[in-house]
Amino acid sequence: MKKVFKFIGLGLGFILLLVAGFCAYVAIVGVPTYEAPTIPEANVEITPARIARGEVIGQIQCMACHADNQNRLTGKHLAEVPALFGKLYSKNITQDKIKGIGNWTDGEIIYFLRTGVRRDGSFAPVMPQYPNMADEDLKSVVAWLRSDRFPVQPAAIEAPESELSFVSKLLTHTMMKPLPYSTELINLPDSTDVVALGRYTADAIGDCYSCHSGDLIDQNKAHPEKSKGYYGGGIEMKSDDGTPILTANLTFDEKTGIAKKYTKEQFIKVVKMGVRPDGSILRQPMFPRPMLTDYEVGAIYEYLKTVPKLENDIARKNEELMLAEKPGH
Ligand code: HEC
Ligand code: HEC
Repeated sequence: MKKVFKFIGLGLGFILLLVAGFCAYVAIVGVPTYEAPTIPEANVEITPARIARGEVIGQIQCMACHADNQNRLTGKHLAEVPALFGKLYSKNITQDKIKGIGNWTDGEIIYFLRTGVRRDGSFAPVMPQYPNMADEDLKSVVAWLRSDRFPVQPAAIEAPESELSFVSKLLTHTMMKPLPYSTELINLPDSTDVVALGRYTADAIGDCYSCHSGDLIDQNKAHPEKSKGYYGGGIEMKSDDGTPILTANLTFDEKTGIAKKYTKEQFIKVVKMGVRPDGSILRQPMFPRPMLTDYEVGAIYEYLKTVPKLENDIARKNEELMLAEKPGH
């Protein structure tokens, strides 16, 4: 008997040693760097239509994380990220050749947006990847970044370096990885297919699922619908005043979802204007998206109807959070 325990003890000790070694390795290496990729060339033709479309995507994506308080894309502190992950900053993506991305090629930008990997093989873990964005929309984003619009004009400012927590570093060795680059053409959805358009707008360009699912990390970027708690909400974030806030359940669950809360018209209003039917205003990090058309937001509503219902009572959980925050409880 004793011998068995000794063996188990030795085994456990060995595993502990391995874990400790791995942790030390992660702490020293930080975010892993990959082999410098071979990046296909792309020469994006800049047209007014592309700039306009790129601006819409830029406003629902890039601006939220990269715009400073003067609306220039010089990078900023991402205040909504829970402290567990460290202190995170985005980067300067203006046309400045040194501080910004003025000397990146079109191909490098597209490759990075799909995979999260830069030309030197370094990986940007917090930056969302866009594996399902149509090629045409990616080109529009590039056209906008190259355009004469105010936010992208060169500004020689450098955002502070991110201070990733150990947890974040560990994640970049385990669950947060670059996505593979595919040369397969991704087409825009058929705009007369409302559900397909809604799914594309919500998942591929809106990135709504990444906040409104069950976990910030346990997500499937290539197949968003396989993410944990897809559209069931409940991820805890920080609002701009520092108070904790939970993301909403956007499924059509009759009791706890948005089924009873919103008609299509009301849903369009809350997403585009940030105002609920009772007049209350949505808090950060949810922001209004007036740049989307009624048709696009209505399409998201139609798509959400087709998503499996999840029971998750966010209103009650928000109340519990508020109580826990109050001193004396
Ligand atoms: C959820 C927040 C978020 C959104 C949305 C976002 N970014 Fe980022 N981005 C980041 C962060 C954080 C970094 C820095 C990552 C790092 O250094 O590891 C970054 C880095 C980058 C870089 C690399 C810059 C450099 O100098 O290395 C580029 C290019 C970029 N983003 C472009 C974009 C574009 C274009 C969009 C819109 C389509 C966008 N980002 C949307 C957070 C975001
Ligand atoms: C950065 C994270 C984030 C992203 C991205 C995001 N949301 Fe939200 N959303 C939130 C949070 C947090 C709330 C809760 C706001 C509150 O309680 O005041 C919310 C609330 C909502 C609500 C109100 C629900 C209710 O209970 O009244 C709707 C509708 C909504 N979001 C739709 C969307 C759609 C559609 C998208 C994509 C276009 C999206 N959200 C993208 C974080 C996000």
